Amino acid sequence: MSEIRNRAERARSFETVAQEYERHRPDYPVEAVEWAAAQLGLEPGARVLDVGAGTGKLTRVLVAAGFETVAVEPGGAMLDQLRLVVPEAEAHEAPAEAIPLPDASIDAAFAAQAFHWFDRERALPELQRVLRPGGGLALLWNWWDERDPLQKELGELVGYAGHEPYREEELPAAPWFRDVGRTVVETVMESSPDALVGYLATASDYLVVSPEERERALAAVHALASKYGDRFAMPRLTYVFAFARL
Ligand SMILES: C[S@@+](CC[C@H](N)C(=O)[O-])C[C@H]1O[C@@H](n2cnc3c(N)ncnc32)[C@H](O)[C@@H]1O
Repeated sequence: MSEIRNRAERARSFETVAQEYERHRPDYPVEAVEWAAAQLGLEPGARVLDVGAGTGKLTRVLVAAGFETVAVEPGGAMLDQLRLVVPEAEAHEAPAEAIPLPDASIDAAFAAQAFHWFDRERALPELQRVLRPGGGLALLWNWWDERDPLQKELGELVGYAGHEPYREEELPAAPWFRDVGRTVVETVMESSPDALVGYLATASDYLVVSPEERERALAAVHALASKYGDRFAMPRLTYVFAFARL
């Protein structure tokens, strides 16, 4: 399979597990949104966009922060979940490359765990188009904390060891955006072997392999996590990046 087809397949693979995604994927810390809002000068009531919103894990934090929130997501099944869980958000089935909103109609755009799936050449001008002059863009990724022994072992097993969720050279830049700042928010979540398997079962790596391969890989995750007990505290990192519209 060509790399482009494989990438497109992976980008849409979440659709098949929308309910599991909603159940097992972690939310985003309020502090991450507060940091981005401060960097981008957002006041409550600002009109913000969540791009690649999935089941609305970030959307609900934006709504709770008092923003008038619009969610855009190309996967119909993901969007159905979002509409159930965050009915307060205006929701559109669309990709980042063709956002069904007027020019300069948004104060800030957010993308959580999604920017790496966009076709950047098309998505960046499109995001710039819908943002008002002076508006901004925030990118978020939840990520593993390899200082935690469980996550270090897990990283070696599943292959994220030593990786970042983003590529520095692919972050938004001129002529569309200017870097404003970045931070890492540290939080701790409760987890268990089953929860970790549920989480990893929604990762694109596992959604595009054969059922046998998937089952074998997830059983190995369960065995590893079980060494750390039935329940454990799991530190995690949320990377947050802020950019100003040029
Ligand atoms: C890992 S999920 C993240 C969902 C949600 N933002 C969250 O943090 O839980 C990635 C999402 O990006 C969406 N996606 C993939 N390609 C996209 C594109 N070109 N434009 C917008 N969203 C896209 C997928 O449908 C999926 O919902």
